[in-house]
Amino acid sequence: MANKLLDKVAVVTGSSSGNGRAIALALATEGASVVCSDIRRDAREGGYESDILTPTDEVIRANGGKAEYVETNAADFAAMENLINFAVSSFGRLDVMVNNAGIFTSLHTIVDETEDEYDRTMAVNAKSVWLGCKFAIRQMLTQEPVDGSRGRVVNIASIGGLVGLAAEPGYCAAKGAVVNLTRQLAVDFAPERINVNAVCPGFLATAMVRPFLEDPELNKALHEKSPWPELGTAEDVAKATLFLASSDARWATGSMLTVDGGFTAP
Ligand SMILES: NC(=O)c1ccc[n+]([C@@H]2O[C@H](COP(=O)([O-])OP(=O)(O)OC[C@H]3O[C@@H](n4cnc5c(N)ncnc54)[C@H](O)[C@@H]3O)[C@@H](O)[C@H]2O)c1
Repeated sequence: MANKLLDKVAVVTGSSSGNGRAIALALATEGASVVCSDIRRDAREGGYESDILTPTDEVIRANGGKAEYVETNAADFAAMENLINFAVSSFGRLDVMVNNAGIFTSLHTIVDETEDEYDRTMAVNAKSVWLGCKFAIRQMLTQEPVDGSRGRVVNIASIGGLVGLAAEPGYCAAKGAVVNLTRQLAVDFAPERINVNAVCPGFLATAMVRPFLEDPELNKALHEKSPWPELGTAEDVAKATLFLASSDARWATGSMLTVDGGFTAP
């Protein structure tokens, strides 16, 4: 076990599968006590995790780390307030908040997108981040700085918040909201020494993207658009998140860290 986050307390939303799971495991490996949260404790079917049958918090404890699990709908006001309260009452403070929970409905243009698809996408992908930031920052403001920061927030946005992705209207709208909320909060809370940053992943192998990868035409198109020879992994996102969650990112705030194999570089 390494110690970049020794004695730190972290909360991760959507931690049962994919990026959230890899992030929770990476933070714990660096010594953080991790409060895992999701709408389901088991990983989603169709994921690429090697230990998919064991819940994230159990994997962390089996590896000698500290973790708890709180069932939490990240789009629910009271549930998110309860999640932060749980972290503080269990571990004493909150150093790292990772707002990762997200959904993707299906590929369609705005003509075919239903109101329900749009509302669900905005709730889980954008409102959840607003809630997570609100309650995490409220707690961080009560804490004295440690390692130069009162706390670090990392929002998992997407390249869909930076550029228009074909046939993803609601998803891009929600991720665009996450990107600019991140910048806005960085401005308000830099004077308080609270870092607020985002990771913008490109397409990578998780349960969310499996339908793309299993469709030969979509798979080919994704590879053709990515300058890097292969697609990314949840672990690539976790390493970027770990950087932004640690004191290595002391003076980084309001930044969008793209982890996309060069997808948005051209
Ligand atoms: N996979 C990619 O290529 C990719 C690319 C860019 C951004 N992202 C973003 O990364 C994040 C994680 O995506 P992933 O690929 O790991 O997806 P995933 O579907 O594999 O995992 C998402 C997790 O979030 C949980 N979740 C869903 N709704 C929730 C809710 N309301 N409250 C709490 N948890 C909820 C799910 O149960 C699941 O465990 C999302 O915000 C996604 O938009 C993913």
